[in-house]
Amino acid sequence: MNSIPHNDGRAESLIETECLPATSNTIERAAELLRDGRLVAVPTETVYGLAANALDPRAVAAIFEAKGRPADNPLIVHVGSAVDSVAALMSGGFVQPLRIGSPQRTIADRLIHAFWPGPLTIVLPRGPTIPESVTARQATAAFRMPAHRVMLELLQMTQLPLAAPSANRSNRISPTAASHVLEELGGRVPMIIDGGRCDIGVESTIVSIDVNGGVTMLRPGGLAVEAIAAVIAAPLLPVTVKNSEVVVPGMQSVHYAPAVPLTLVERDDDILLADFLAKFSALKTIGIVVLQGEPACPVAWAPTLRGVKTIVTSLGDDGDGCLAARHLFAALRDLDRQAVDLIVVEAPSQVSGGLWQAVKDRLRRAAAAAAGGRKL
Ligand code: TXA
Ligand code: MG
Repeated sequence: MNSIPHNDGRAESLIETECLPATSNTIERAAELLRDGRLVAVPTETVYGLAANALDPRAVAAIFEAKGRPADNPLIVHVGSAVDSVAALMSGGFVQPLRIGSPQRTIADRLIHAFWPGPLTIVLPRGPTIPESVTARQATAAFRMPAHRVMLELLQMTQLPLAAPSANRSNRISPTAASHVLEELGGRVPMIIDGGRCDIGVESTIVSIDVNGGVTMLRPGGLAVEAIAAVIAAPLLPVTVKNSEVVVPGMQSVHYAPAVPLTLVERDDDILLADFLAKFSALKTIGIVVLQGEPACPVAWAPTLRGVKTIVTSLGDDGDGCLAARHLFAALRDLDRQAVDLIVVEAPSQVSGGLWQAVKDRLRRAAAAAAGGRKL
């Protein structure tokens, strides 16, 4: 072990982090670490997760420690493919049978059958085997069966539910590649399994289900809201103070922040952009993210005319937002790493539906964090 000084002068101990390809040997070693109460960063179809045995309060505490995550922000419990119904969640003691209503159970089963394994997290009454620290002492717990070979094999091999938040330091952008995890958590976790780029690229959609079977959207994510509405044959409820028994602390607007200030500008609004640039004449390099393929829009070229160096990235060209979702976090992280002074993102105001809702949500939060965080 070696150590580096903390900002506040305290020493922080570091461990060696192995970043290994997802071979069966690696997965077996990872399973062993997890059974021993250690942490392993694991690929999922949404983003990389930082996994630990959800039934072991000390392992769970290590997640909060490694991420610098506030203890009041609950974790998602990942379950394996044998846990394919509310009955299975109840028989493991994960869900509390006495507090679940019959319509609630019917709707939960319908969603589980339609979307697991996959990018949908379902919040239900917490059962007795889930430690309080996992759910930040809330009476509910969040469950998801991920659709990724590596994570499913680990769940199968360990026969444990795995608590796994996104594998980033608290309030930072979620990692969608093993190298991102290394940047975030190198020296803090013993092993990262490299399973390549995440297919979906944004975190799972989170819903809660009330006793009457009403489904509330808590976080838009990798499963489109339209797909959920079609399966439950009803619109989703928005979060309100009234229907929200649950707190979603991770959803404050300062979440998902790149370290660099970020602003959203309409595609053709070169006047606003010019104004903006005039105000911040000290800017040397700005990163520009355009949404749909061709970067020939004013947002992309206006700064060049004013002598500002630009690095332009496109999120792809895909009507339903899948490509934008897949590339968003990596694009922001890349620009962050290139030490641009500002990130300008083309506002996705002309597109909607599918995964655009999640993309818009993450961009709004990143912009809000920039506004409330470091000033230009
Ligand atoms: O795709 C994902 O969901 C990824 C991968 C690794 O599975 N995980 C993930 O975890 O995004 P995390 O911890 O970064 O975000 C989980 C969110 C947090 O905003 C947390 O507040 C919310 O889920 N959450 C967890 N338990 C909850 C509960 N009982 N009620 C309401 N929200 C809950
Ligand atoms: Mg997260």
